[in-house]
Amino acid sequence: MTAERVPLNEKVYGVDYIPEKINGDYEGKHILSVEQFERRDLEELFKVTTWIRHKVKSGDPSVNSVALGKVMASLFYEPSTRTDLSFQAAMRRLGGNVINASNGVQFSSVYKGENLPDTIRAVGCYADAIILRHPEAGSTFEAAHALEALRSETGTETILISGGDGIGEHPTQALLDLYTIEDFKGNSGDIDITLVGDLFNGRTVHSLGRLLSINGFGRVRVNLVSPESLRMPAEIISSMEEKGISVLETERLNNVLSSTDVIYWTRVQEERFEDPSEYAAIKDSFVLTPELMTHVKSDAIVMHPLPRKGEMGSQYDHKELDQDPRTVYFQQMENGMYIRMALLGATMGRIRS
Ligand code: NCD
Repeated sequence: MTAERVPLNEKVYGVDYIPEKINGDYEGKHILSVEQFERRDLEELFKVTTWIRHKVKSGDPSVNSVALGKVMASLFYEPSTRTDLSFQAAMRRLGGNVINASNGVQFSSVYKGENLPDTIRAVGCYADAIILRHPEAGSTFEAAHALEALRSETGTETILISGGDGIGEHPTQALLDLYTIEDFKGNSGDIDITLVGDLFNGRTVHSLGRLLSINGFGRVRVNLVSPESLRMPAEIISSMEEKGISVLETERLNNVLSSTDVIYWTRVQEERFEDPSEYAAIKDSFVLTPELMTHVKSDAIVMHPLPRKGEMGSQYDHKELDQDPRTVYFQQMENGMYIRMALLGATMGRIRS
């Protein structure tokens, strides 16, 4: 890797740190943003992902030694089920090892008030890859920058992969989302994608919006359906429009539902609201029910990054929705493990396409 070597200087942490582009070579790269990928990098990753998926599903053990001798640290400052466990499962299925703070980060030196760069550099001394989820946007950039500092100090070449950066980005989620879209819908045709819910706080839709902007993915139209106060940030809309995507913002789901090929439903991010009454007033703005599904195309797919709460109705609604063949969120979730296996293998230099 040819990353810029930076001096160990607290003042520069998190400031203007731009991760290297993949540019055809994943080895040694931190994964912080979908902006690092070009279309050909995605094609490579998706090809490897499909190969891995086939191996795992057919019980072929040949991927079991890809990460032999490597260690991945799982460092989650925010709750997680899918991202944390799919990364852990991915590393183990590749034959690598996983470490985390006994009983979670709240029982690490974070509890004593240690700052993020110090914690990251400590973990960087023990692991080859760190998966970081943190509530503050920009923190994964700050952490990767700290690892660059460690690299210039000790030569330790640990990589950082974002598992969610506050309300900023969730790049590996967007990779698995796009993989799932292409898996069901191909990558060449006309496609209408509708993102629904909390588009302001939802990091999954931020990364997916940016990723859809990457050249070469068919002719995409994106509908953004949210309450007025939870609209998609303007700069993400501009980045899509600059790449020729036609974007429609609306509060009326009915205007777009029946022409949509991919529906991406999201949860209102309760934990990002300071005022609980504001959350309560808005949380049921868009609820996907079995009745609403009668307006959805017969060959559309419905995705959700999960977890889900009231935005998919009651427990009974969940059950009915899950039985609808158009809902693919469990396949989406499983794809996440394969994408993360491919990404870990490639960034650790153990898989080349
Ligand atoms: C998402 C997240 O954490 O951003 N979950 C996930 O990683 N699958 C979405 C959410 O919490 O709503």
